[in-house]
Amino acid sequence: MLRLLTASFLSLIFSIPAFAAEMGKFKYDDFKKPSYCGMCHREIHQEWRQSMMSKSFTHSWDEVEYFELALPHSKKLEKVAGVKAGCIACHGPLAFLSGDIPPGKPSAGTRANEGVSCEVCHNITGTSEKEPFNFSFITDPGKTKNGPRKDARSPAHKTKYSGFTRSPELCATCHDEQSPYGMWVKSTYREWKEGPYSKEGVRCQDCHMYHAPGKAASGGKHRKDIAHHTFHGSHVAGKLAGAIDVALYAGKSTIAPGDTLAIRAELFNGKAGHKIPSGSAEERMLWLEVWATDASGKRWHIPVDPKGFPMEEYTIASGAKAYFAIGEILEIDDFKGLKRDGNVPEGARIFRKPFFDPKGRMTVCQWYTADNTKLDYRIGPRETRVESYTWELPRGVARGKLKLTAKLYYSEIPSSVGEFFKLPRSEYAPMLVNSAEITIDVE
Ligand code: HEC
Ligand code: HEC
Ligand code: HEC
Ligand code: HEC
Ligand code: HEC
Repeated sequence: MLRLLTASFLSLIFSIPAFAAEMGKFKYDDFKKPSYCGMCHREIHQEWRQSMMSKSFTHSWDEVEYFELALPHSKKLEKVAGVKAGCIACHGPLAFLSGDIPPGKPSAGTRANEGVSCEVCHNITGTSEKEPFNFSFITDPGKTKNGPRKDARSPAHKTKYSGFTRSPELCATCHDEQSPYGMWVKSTYREWKEGPYSKEGVRCQDCHMYHAPGKAASGGKHRKDIAHHTFHGSHVAGKLAGAIDVALYAGKSTIAPGDTLAIRAELFNGKAGHKIPSGSAEERMLWLEVWATDASGKRWHIPVDPKGFPMEEYTIASGAKAYFAIGEILEIDDFKGLKRDGNVPEGARIFRKPFFDPKGRMTVCQWYTADNTKLDYRIGPRETRVESYTWELPRGVARGKLKLTAKLYYSEIPSSVGEFFKLPRSEYAPMLVNSAEITIDVE
């Protein structure tokens, strides 16, 4: 009865009845541990262990955001009460399916720690939605494992060919999300669906689970296209590197101090099947720094030319403060906010989608997002974005070669937020996506 009540309350919050239906329907023992599957699927297990899938409940920022912000907030504000279970449905699905809500912290060692495990994905039989979101998966934990093959035979379990396992809709059950205020706070699947790759039949699995010859299990068949479980995304510097091409152009090849130089940068998203950044857009930033270095080694950061579109100020780095909801949730009197753009140099263009809380303040709390529809300055799949710069050469520029450098960086979390919560620097340090350089002569 209690479970039923919780479930219907949850569904009110998320306003979709079917979604919480899986909560507490099972017990932890219905699910095998990844190490068990790994006895035969040794390589797949090693890949998965290194991926974010296995860390979705345990890595630092996830723990902090749930236990220090979302969970306390869910107890204070009825509108967001559903996130107590909702976050766990995607980040620690075994706890959600077993009704262990809220689960203990990672240090307690509950099975929420297994994250998005083998059993989570391979017991999913379908979804209640045509275009899934908010953990709308249907789970059937039993002897049968759903997979991509019609001819797989295993001594440990039954196998079943599943078109759903092969489909991007499987990914969409967790990668698209609506906030309790009805905003799309994650839309990777929807971005893909609208973009060119869905039309060409290129799936999420084709880019995030590369296929190569090998065996899926000891005792399995040798096959030419085994699905690797690396799930590399923005957390892997090498996956991010080169995802966007950068080209730089200068209006003149020779210039004198006091002259004005026109510079243009072109950015092309040629590798991602969705926007960059995608996923947790509330906290991801992609930004372009254009620097000039003269023959003596002196450096200038060149600010972008504004284009004049509405709310453009959110896409140009400044000293502005934001994220006031953090102070509100933590009950810090006189909270002054955190630097909206962290350490991004002033004047740099930021490709992002700002989220706003019900009080109209920019927020990283995606569950507390009442509006994020007014501005989306991320770069879509196969989209080219042009930025221009007008720079009056300072009198002090040294004669000789002037180097112009464009550097495109990405960060998971604004450094101000990372520092505030004392996260490991690796979780928010800027990562270089690409760069370009040209040289002109100063006479
Ligand atoms: C005793 C060894 C063994 C264990 C333990 C084992 N499997 Fe398998 N599994 C296999 C073999 C062998 C295959 C067939 C591989 C092939 O045909 O390429 C297989 C196939 C699969 C497939 C593909 C099915 C398809 O139709 O495409 C999935 C998915 C799968 N296993 C998941 C799991 C999961 C999840 C676990 C842990 C709960 C697990 N396996 C435990 C041996 C094992
Ligand atoms: C996020 C969901 C997800 C997780 C977690 C996951 N898998 Fe898979 N797995 C898939 C998908 C999707 C495919 C099919 C890929 C395709 O269609 O190209 C697959 C394919 C497989 C196959 C068949 C490979 C082949 O090409 O024949 C096996 C075996 C398998 N998974 C085992 C596992 C094991 C073991 C684990 C845990 C260590 C695991 N999976 C974790 C989604 C997942
Ligand atoms: C049960 C929910 C669930 C399903 C199903 C799922 N994912 Fe995920 N995925 C997550 C969560 C949660 C994370 C975030 C881990 C973290 O950073 O805390 C994640 C992370 C990722 C990342 C890493 C992103 C980064 O920033 O580095 C990739 C790539 C990814 N998933 C791809 C896929 C693909 C492809 C599929 C479908 C085959 C899929 N996922 C299915 C929940 C899921
Ligand atoms: C054409 C290849 C391609 C396809 C198709 C594709 N991705 Fe990606 N994805 C990438 C690349 C490259 C990156 C790294 C750049 C980045 O982080 O945005 C990435 C990054 C991600 C990230 C990290 C998000 C970010 O920007 O921080 C997630 C999550 C993800 N993909 C999930 C998915 C899901 C889910 C699908 C299907 C709906 C999908 N991807 C389809 C290539 C692809
Ligand atoms: C519908 C599934 C879903 C729900 C519900 C959900 N998340 Fe996530 N979360 C994801 C996925 C998928 C990603 C990875 C996206 C990406 O890589 O950008 C993610 C990413 C994150 C990240 C970023 C991790 C990183 O490495 O930077 C944090 C923190 C996080 N979620 C916390 C939460 C909290 C707290 C809640 C509840 C308020 C929540 N999530 C609700 C699916 C979900």
